[in-house]
Amino acid sequence: MPVYILGIESSCDDTSAAVLRNTCMLSNVVANQQVHNDFGGVVPELASRAHQQNIIPVIDKALKEAKVQKEQLSAIAFTRGPGLLGSLLVGTSFAKAMALGLNIPLIDVNHMQAHILSHFILRKASNNPIPHFPFLCLTVSGGHTQIVMIKDYFDMAIIGRTIDDAAGEAFDKAAKILGLGYPGGPLVDKLAVAGNPLAFKFSKPSITGLDYSFSGLKTSFLYFVRDRLKENPGFIDEHLSDLCASMQSSIIHVLMDKLIKASEQTGIKEVAIAGGVSANSGLRNAITAMQSKAGWNTYIPEFQFTTDNAAMIAVAGYFKFLKGEFTSQSVTPYSRGGM
Ligand code: KG4
Ligand code: ZN
Repeated sequence: MPVYILGIESSCDDTSAAVLRNTCMLSNVVANQQVHNDFGGVVPELASRAHQQNIIPVIDKALKEAKVQKEQLSAIAFTRGPGLLGSLLVGTSFAKAMALGLNIPLIDVNHMQAHILSHFILRKASNNPIPHFPFLCLTVSGGHTQIVMIKDYFDMAIIGRTIDDAAGEAFDKAAKILGLGYPGGPLVDKLAVAGNPLAFKFSKPSITGLDYSFSGLKTSFLYFVRDRLKENPGFIDEHLSDLCASMQSSIIHVLMDKLIKASEQTGIKEVAIAGGVSANSGLRNAITAMQSKAGWNTYIPEFQFTTDNAAMIAVAGYFKFLKGEFTSQSVTPYSRGGM
């Protein structure tokens, strides 16, 4: 009998609901919140209010698009953490109430595990390849930068992580210094296309092992731009694409360096990327190039699965459903960790 899972994601500023039949995606609805644009970042209080407004219409739309009645659902999976507590509470409370009302199991999902498991979502149209265990995943978002070794769906070990900022923050900070909007990653990516990645050099971190650091690179970029502006107030406008291309290439260089080391150390050549920054065209190209350079099998998510979405929550929920791993009505969200 097919399993129908409704996934609910509300960890940050996207309200999302999705319906899966086993691992096959039937719908994935995302409502982006525009209320934060004027503030240069996500305002937690505004985010939870917007989730409250969005959650019913988003779930309704996801069920309709999937052509699934709520009575057909086998279970409800929701993001328990990490994320903004006020935002997580909206999804968690709604999931609890709906599961109770329908008398079906409730499944809690870790957001970071779900980003990785998004590679197992089956797409009818594309017949997409699925990673084989064990594989490595570079999970890069606005809040996380991790190299994870995945031995099984829920047997994951973080073998490298950032000791300060996330890669997404480095993109967003660079965009802010250049006077671009928020989130900055997509804007830097777009402008970088026309620029020269070798135009400017910024200091690279010299941290040992598989861990990352981005704060030095961020500061080096800030001081470089500040010093050039003193000499020439038009510096940013005259060199915008080159600045974006050079910063993007520095971030990617740092990311790839440790990922290559991780592959060499573990001997694993199945390599995936996930999270918001995995939408970056330069990073996608760099990973793909490793197929011919080092014989990697690479897994690059569709754009709709790079940013926060409920299909990844539903697929993680499906694998927990198969193991009978349900949670209780007394479950509470967590803002950090959990993996
Ligand atoms: O996973 P995500 O949607 O949310 C978090 O859980 O943080 O990631 C958001 C991050 C932001 O820092 C954003 O600037 C970055 O992903 N991002 C990108 C691109 N698209 C989104 N960074 C670089 N290039 C992109 N194309
Ligand atoms: Zn995320």
